[in-house]
Amino acid sequence: MPSVSPPPSPDPGLLAKLRADLTAAAYTVDGVQQILGPVAARALHREQRLPADLATRDRTEPVAVLARLLGLGFPVAWGDADRSLPTLRADGAVRLGLARAEGADLRGTIDLRPYADETHDWWVASDLSEIATGRPLPESHVLGVGNASTTLAEWTIRRPAARALDLGVGSAVQSLHLAGHCEHLVGTDTSERALAFARFTAALNEVEIDLRQGNLLEPVVGERFDLVVSNPPFVITPRTPGMPLYEYRDAGLVGDGVVEALVRSVGAHLEPGGVAQFLGNWESRRGASWRDRWSDWLDGTGLDAWVIQREVQDPAEYAELWARDAGQRRGAAAYEVMYGAWLADFADRDVEGIGFGIVTLQRPATAREPWLDLDEYAGAVAPGVGQAVSAGLAARTAIAEGGSDYLLDTAWVVAADVTEERHLQPGSEDPTVIVARQGGGLRRTVHLDTITAALLGVCDGQLTAGAALDAIAHLLETDPDQTTQRALPVLTALVRDGFLTP
Ligand SMILES: C[S@@+](CC[C@H](N)C(=O)[O-])C[C@H]1O[C@@H](n2cnc3c(N)ncnc32)[C@H](O)[C@@H]1O
Repeated sequence: MPSVSPPPSPDPGLLAKLRADLTAAAYTVDGVQQILGPVAARALHREQRLPADLATRDRTEPVAVLARLLGLGFPVAWGDADRSLPTLRADGAVRLGLARAEGADLRGTIDLRPYADETHDWWVASDLSEIATGRPLPESHVLGVGNASTTLAEWTIRRPAARALDLGVGSAVQSLHLAGHCEHLVGTDTSERALAFARFTAALNEVEIDLRQGNLLEPVVGERFDLVVSNPPFVITPRTPGMPLYEYRDAGLVGDGVVEALVRSVGAHLEPGGVAQFLGNWESRRGASWRDRWSDWLDGTGLDAWVIQREVQDPAEYAELWARDAGQRRGAAAYEVMYGAWLADFADRDVEGIGFGIVTLQRPATAREPWLDLDEYAGAVAPGVGQAVSAGLAARTAIAEGGSDYLLDTAWVVAADVTEERHLQPGSEDPTVIVARQGGGLRRTVHLDTITAALLGVCDGQLTAGAALDAIAHLLETDPDQTTQRALPVLTALVRDGFLTP
């Protein structure tokens, strides 16, 4: 079997038949999950195919045959394929570029798997995974739906937008989501092969994407967007001769240059009030924190920035993760060469840690100083975190525009998901620690003192925060101005993170 099969063809007539057959077969996330069962489905997430093989081997329902043919990488009998694709037929699957004949069988040449959100069922076309081929990935590999794809999709702000850009569109995962709330979609990629997969995914799901080839923002020179999203090729890769350049994860720049390039250039492509969201890796170098690096990149861009560092790896952990990601196995010569190259590359730049996180940049809609929030938060977030990002962005912007007057003149309401914990030493009447905890969104916690706990307790939309703090000062017999000044940082945190809503 050739290591790289041609991308599928978006023939409209054949695609309509494929769509009809996939729909009739209930080839959906739920449908495949049902046929696999929870154990095999979880094993697949751990890149173990055997339980899925055993669960589907003797099944002849179309959904099982299609899962074997289009996701798991097993050959299926020509007759079974014909029965499972009653309109397209096995022959149509070959003509579309989904599969090829192999004796009396049909073998999938691309990965076509169901994907869904709360309201849509889609299919995403990409290259076959390492699980299906059992071999390391070729450099031109077009990625399917991965963990990074779903992370970005979850964190994306889903508000209506006129124009959106999916930079590094790949197999068009982000675009499928964007199509639900954006009128005009542009997708860019350097890889002609990725664009061909994106074209196929878009056509199969009846989504329109204006697809363009080119490096980063070059294909959209002079254009502006309300929303730019990107799961960019952010993997920091040694530029050592012989080191493979995997197009799906490596833009060919030194270190974290691709994230820097995006930060410095995306502002010119945002409408006032427009937002760019992307994932990235960034380096912490000896003597400078990741925050120093970000402050430097943002300097002069005029953009509001909310960067949430979710994870930090040391150079060895990073090398192991990404050598393995391309299908190399520990102990193989290529793995050891890559591992060594990564360690040398990081040592050259005095890199001590590599951060991973989610970046949200906003072009201010009014003339004001940009705000900056360089945050570290590794905790689990609630489903639908994109809504919390949207609210957090609005809150940070309102604070930047209205300052402490806004905070003190608003009658705040405690959000419904907030609870308070008090920790007391045994026998004591007064708590030593008071914590406000958020059940949804980013699931943050904020430490309170007596004043801010009392404030939170009375925020029911009746009194402004200023009036409430005056009343609390009166009760505690403290100076009202000092009480207010003491409470302001915590009030800011409570508003910024959505514990208090206007
Ligand atoms: C990690 S994949 C993301 C695919 C998809 N958007 C997702 O969320 O899963 C990154 C994509 O960026 C593309 N790419 C690589 N270098 C690029 C560059 N310099 N400019 C634009 N796209 C690039 C790759 O071909 C690949 O399709």
